[in-house]
Amino acid sequence: MTPRPRLLSRTLRRILRRPRPEVPLPLDMFSVERTAQEARAARKLEKLYHQGQRRAWKGKDVLAELLERHGGIQLPDEQVEAVRALFAVILWGELAAWKISAALADELEPLEAKMAATAQVHDEARHFYVMHDYLEALGSVPSELGPATQRVLSGTLEADTIVKKLLGMQLMIEPLALTLFHLVRRMKLEPVLAELLVYFEQDEARHVALGVLHLPQMLEGMRVREAADLHVWQIREYFAQFAMMKELEPHFRALGIHPRQVIALGRQKQMLAMQMLIDEIGVDLPVVEVFRRVTDFRAELDFPEEGQPRDFPSRLRAGLAAALHSAEAEGVLSEVA
Ligand SMILES: [Fe+2]
Ligand SMILES: [Fe+2]
Repeated sequence: MTPRPRLLSRTLRRILRRPRPEVPLPLDMFSVERTAQEARAARKLEKLYHQGQRRAWKGKDVLAELLERHGGIQLPDEQVEAVRALFAVILWGELAAWKISAALADELEPLEAKMAATAQVHDEARHFYVMHDYLEALGSVPSELGPATQRVLSGTLEADTIVKKLLGMQLMIEPLALTLFHLVRRMKLEPVLAELLVYFEQDEARHVALGVLHLPQMLEGMRVREAADLHVWQIREYFAQFAMMKELEPHFRALGIHPRQVIALGRQKQMLAMQMLIDEIGVDLPVVEVFRRVTDFRAELDFPEEGQPRDFPSRLRAGLAAALHSAEAEGVLSEVA
């Protein structure tokens, strides 16, 4: 018997099977049966919404208190431009996250996922205005982004499916933001920013959890063609991150941060997010292995360690060797953790 072509995820098929109501509301949204795993994820998603409300912080008050306690922003003149350039990415990334979470709050249908996305909308609005106010206090609010950075943000903002938006924002871009926050705090670059970012990080952890908890339901029942399209897109987005890293490299170096530190920590945070997703789904995703090898290859090719040969054949050889022997190297991470 020829298998029935399955081109749509189960959730989408459920939606398409429904008779169209007069009013554009999913009146039958509570009549959908859930598996035990979906019910468990729903309980956790609902909790994310309530946590978001309980832990909401007053951005204006927090920033004012930090500025007063530390006597304003304490940053050497020669580092101001680099912090401004790196946090321009965060500022506009927060607006991207705000727009994407608003789209998720609108489109996600199970009540609990919609609630969690709605809580995220409030968090991202707060992050955007607080980062705007911080940059204003630093001197001026940046109104420009490099082309490679714009490419990374628009890759997810303009993705053609809601699954890509959820995966791209919660499991790829958010871990990158967390990487920068972690490095700035660890380097003790500037006390106001370092303390402010602790508040951001607490909120961002809930946003990653939304992706981890809701994506399994969206991926479930996905056909080979849909899954392939999603993962090809994901690999393309990972590649785009390297061009962004190259673009931001001078600013990291101005702050005394080697790009390999950023790559190692970013790799760890993105792998961790993907691993949490795999644990929820219960099956391996080959894209994680590809990501790890591609990351190790590009790290050697584009950002050789100090003292290593910089000619192209040597970098290529080192990249291929790193990709072939790529593994979960915890030791590499200890130096940046
Ligand atoms: Fe945010
Ligand atoms: Fe976020």
